[in-house]
Amino acid sequence: MRVLLVGSGGREHALAWKLRQSPTVSELFIAPGNGGTAGLGHNVPIADSDVEGLCAFAREKGVALTVAGPELPLTLGLTDAMDALGIPCFGPDKYAAGLEGSKAFAKEVMRQAGVPTADFRVFDDPDAARAYLDQVGAPVVVKADGLAAGKGVVVAKTVAEAKTAVSDMMEKKMYGPAGERVIVEEALCGEEASFLAFCDGGTCVPMTACQDHKAAYDGDKGPNTGGMGAYCPAPILPESDYGRMADMVFAPILRVLAARGHPFRGVLYAGLMMTEKGPLVLEYNVRFGDPECQPLLARLRGDLAEIMLACATGTLDAAMVGWSRQSAVCVVMAAAGYPGSYQKGMEITGIDLAEADPDVTVFQAGTRREARRIVTSGGRVLGVTALGEDLGAAQKRAYAAVSKIAFDNAFFRTDIGDKGLRREAGK
Ligand code: AMP
Ligand code: GLY
Repeated sequence: MRVLLVGSGGREHALAWKLRQSPTVSELFIAPGNGGTAGLGHNVPIADSDVEGLCAFAREKGVALTVAGPELPLTLGLTDAMDALGIPCFGPDKYAAGLEGSKAFAKEVMRQAGVPTADFRVFDDPDAARAYLDQVGAPVVVKADGLAAGKGVVVAKTVAEAKTAVSDMMEKKMYGPAGERVIVEEALCGEEASFLAFCDGGTCVPMTACQDHKAAYDGDKGPNTGGMGAYCPAPILPESDYGRMADMVFAPILRVLAARGHPFRGVLYAGLMMTEKGPLVLEYNVRFGDPECQPLLARLRGDLAEIMLACATGTLDAAMVGWSRQSAVCVVMAAAGYPGSYQKGMEITGIDLAEADPDVTVFQAGTRREARRIVTSGGRVLGVTALGEDLGAAQKRAYAAVSKIAFDNAFFRTDIGDKGLRREAGK
């Protein structure tokens, strides 16, 4: 079958890499793709937000499965539009994608489903939000309701800081319409974990737990990024807890959405905070995490195209999904300055050398092919991913691979996986 994959990041290179391994995939199109996906299929110059263009292309090419990498096309109704054409699409419809597209909607669904989450209030009026902040005090979290490219969350240490966030979001409209409504939420303490599941509307099959590293620098210092590295399985959520956790954070959400006539099909991603009082859901995403996708797919045993088609058509079976017993670590190599401004167009060398190790795959994120060269074109440039018999071995192999790759002003965290290693050591 012909498959259309939408997106252009490291996650999409990993998705393309895994889809290409499926014997049922005859042709793969990636819209718009990147330097990495160019080697696995045909990059087509259609933006991930161009729902009409994607649909026209899918129809023209006789695409049998569309896969949405990022959330944006889903919140714009890609699945609804593909459904109307009779083309199965991996990813929830526009209504269910609201779990990520609107934090107020996510909270409302969580409340009905009985999913444990931080206490919160929703505000459309900045004065009311400020009065509430005076009442609850700090620390406190202020979140823009809508999609703000991962930037609409302020964990405020003081009430003044929280009020500034309210004013930035609601009055200065720093995130445009996404910040017209805000959520004020109780600040939680703990370690975070990413727990994802394949869902077909009724059935959910959890993946192994991951841990992302959102801060730019070692020791979780510096500004928040899209993610500087991830590994799995993450010992913070042991395998023996997956079933119980899935019953708590996935199954009730699927039930609520199915009852509302919008069965959730695709990847449901629960961002968990492991607090002293137990795990609470910080947020839902309606897609694979980036970079969580890279180590997850490195370990996935199963036919991804078959799994995705089954999710899209309501025929998922747990037997389709298996995992290698190895650990996987993905270290993101970024361009200096990221997540702020950074240079583009630097030549990347050493990817072949790094991939000479059969347990290493270099997923490309912000790259572009230029004649015979690969050059940087984004902030997060590469996701160097390695397998190993345990977390320590995978980490060592990933960093050995990183050391073989070079581009001007490259930077990366040197502690991806350390939290898991400390936990395993009982420290
Ligand atoms: P979100 O987009 O909701 O996941 O928020 C982004 C990041 O902000 C999370 O990964 C956490 O690190 C942090 N965060 C969000 N909500 C809270 C909270 N209630 N308490 C503490 N930190 C939070
Ligand atoms: N890595 C976090 C995310 O994709 O949302």
